[in-house]
Amino acid sequence: MTSNLFEHVDTLKTLNDNAPIAEKLACAHAALQQHLPAVERVAVALYDVRTDVLKTFSHSTDRINPLEHYQSRLADASSLQEILAHGQPRVIQDLTEFAQGKREHTQRIAAQGYRASYTMPMYHNGSFVGFVFFNSTAEGGFQEAELQLLDIFGHLVAVTVISELISIRTLVASVQATRHVTQYRDVETGAHVSRTAHYARMIAQHLAVTHKLSDEFIEHVYLFSPLHDIGKIGVPDSVLLKPGKLTVEEFEVMKTHTRRGGEIIDIILKDFALSSFEQVDILRNIVLYHHETMDGAGYPTGLKGSAIPLEARISAVADIFDALTSQRPYKNAWSNDEAFTALRGLTPLKLDAECVDALIQCRSQIEETQAQFRDIPPAEPRQHPGERL
Ligand code: C2E
Ligand code: SIN
Ligand code: SIN
Ligand code: FE
Ligand code: FE
Repeated sequence: MTSNLFEHVDTLKTLNDNAPIAEKLACAHAALQQHLPAVERVAVALYDVRTDVLKTFSHSTDRINPLEHYQSRLADASSLQEILAHGQPRVIQDLTEFAQGKREHTQRIAAQGYRASYTMPMYHNGSFVGFVFFNSTAEGGFQEAELQLLDIFGHLVAVTVISELISIRTLVASVQATRHVTQYRDVETGAHVSRTAHYARMIAQHLAVTHKLSDEFIEHVYLFSPLHDIGKIGVPDSVLLKPGKLTVEEFEVMKTHTRRGGEIIDIILKDFALSSFEQVDILRNIVLYHHETMDGAGYPTGLKGSAIPLEARISAVADIFDALTSQRPYKNAWSNDEAFTALRGLTPLKLDAECVDALIQCRSQIEETQAQFRDIPPAEPRQHPGERL
């Protein structure tokens, strides 16, 4: 019998791997270019329904990427809104004509020499999650046969991105669920969680160019930084909810929240079979090292300077800024200016000066976030210390 085996290279093999989205996107892009070499850019933007913000997430191109670290309100992007209203992709055959319009980012794309554009909305179970963009340098734009191929690749990209998002959402939701079944939810409100996430993103976005941070990294810092204090669920209420200053012994107990947090994360990762998931180091580093200080006098390990992972240095600044500007059982809320002065005073010995400068430059964004995510005063008195669920 003759063998049915013959040499075949699966051009999409990288999609099987535990690889960053950018690599999977590059793989799908290369496979697509075997058929449509003029499609020189594939990009993905994600939509945040709570803030109506559309933000760049990942891309593949050999050219200069016209839109890195870019975000805009969907409400300000009328042509993209139109795509959503119809639930249909959009074809632009000649971007040079389209670029007569005023939108800065369309002009930037045309300026890179792209002639045609295909934009496909991504849905997960009927909910809109973002867009896939294809740009081609070919004159004459996209014909029907090419569009049919783009549809297939567009859905492939969408499925790849969505499965990654689901892993992250499962992880974040399970950590949040752990928080919610404990007393700890009374101390750190949902508003605090959201604000911390946004502060961390502002800092990361500011550092993006100098530190060559990808949009994907920024997104993960945004999603994971609010989970930094998960280990506090293991701290007794008598310490966690103490109205006054902690004694030295009590503070030693409090300090265990970093290592306990690391243990909790590892248990969740194992239970949800996410341990091999590439981005978990970002989460683990934030939970373990957000109380390390630049001079090496922090806890739990005394890491120093740039040995502290950047995501932990970013989260530390976001955390302290929100702790200072919020009311806690042991302190009143400070004004933003008081908090900025305090943060400056903590550089360079305690906090990373670049991260602090980055946050201070985001005053108007900070005020927007504070207006959007306000603390709601607790409706009923807190349980007495010692009374656990
Ligand atoms: P947290 O409330 O989330 O505060 C996080 C970090 O923000 C603190 O880390 C500290 O670096 C900064 N921070 C918060 N409040 C203040 C403040 O009033 N002044 C200054 N200069 N910095 C502040 P730290 O010190 O490692 O504390 C870790 C956690 O220990 C705190 O998390 C809080 O839950 C608890 N804690 C710290 N001090 C006290 C205290 O005096 N009383 C009570 N009840 N808890 C405390
Ligand atoms: C993009 O290609 O990333 C955005 C294009 C558009 O908004 O039309
Ligand atoms: C989360 O931790 O739930 C995501 C960040 C946010 O709340 O904005
Ligand atoms: Fe902490
Ligand atoms: Fe904290």
